[in-house]
Amino acid sequence: MPRQFFVGGNFKMNGTIKSITDIINNLNNAKLDPNVEVVVAPSSLYLLLVREHLRKEIEVAAQNVYDKPNGAFTGEISVEQLKSSGINWTLLGHSERRVILQEDDKFVASKTKAALDGDVSVILCCGESLEQREAGKTIEVVNNQLKAVAAEIKDWSKIVIAYEPIWAIGTGKVATTEQAQEVHAAIREWLKKDVSPEVADKTRIIYGGSVSEKNCKELAKQPDVDGFLVGGASLKPAFVDIINANQ
Ligand code: PGA
Repeated sequence: MPRQFFVGGNFKMNGTIKSITDIINNLNNAKLDPNVEVVVAPSSLYLLLVREHLRKEIEVAAQNVYDKPNGAFTGEISVEQLKSSGINWTLLGHSERRVILQEDDKFVASKTKAALDGDVSVILCCGESLEQREAGKTIEVVNNQLKAVAAEIKDWSKIVIAYEPIWAIGTGKVATTEQAQEVHAAIREWLKKDVSPEVADKTRIIYGGSVSEKNCKELAKQPDVDGFLVGGASLKPAFVDIINANQ
């Protein structure tokens, strides 16, 4: 079974009711490749708005979720709250949360477990900084981020791994097709050895970091690139061209 191509849109802390409604309308009216699984992640404030108005074959993701079921955790959102709002996906471990909000590998792993236990699928982000890449530590850093998750969970069927080199996020400096393929292949090799050959074969590994309508087609041709996590361009009409990268 080939892996289904997957394109996520990470709106980050962008948009207002007006501009998010424009994005919804654009996606609702677009001709999208029916073979691609599409998931968009608006700010939590707009999850319900997007879920209500967006065409139903596109799933909606939170950008984060907490690892406790309920209680005195001001500002946080639970897995149960997502499920009861029709939200079946969440991003976790995005580098902006790891770096700015100082989330460590263990916390990301704990939240991944909580999401999966509550039947919420996870786009699990990993990736190295420029300093780590220049020190030759890319594979080690990415593997360590994923190992922390592997220590907590057994079932990988509801996880999509997003490799996002930090130096490529929002910088316009996309990884070369060779750089992306090299790390994706290494992640698959790690899955094969540390998890199982079946999980390695089935798990989608998507690339994120300055993906645009211009570079998506070449990246999509790489054997271990199973889709994209798109930030800036997911707010623009060009997002449709990225979803349709294989056409
Ligand atoms: P970018 O962001 O496409 O704007 O580089 C990607 C991401 O952070 O998911």
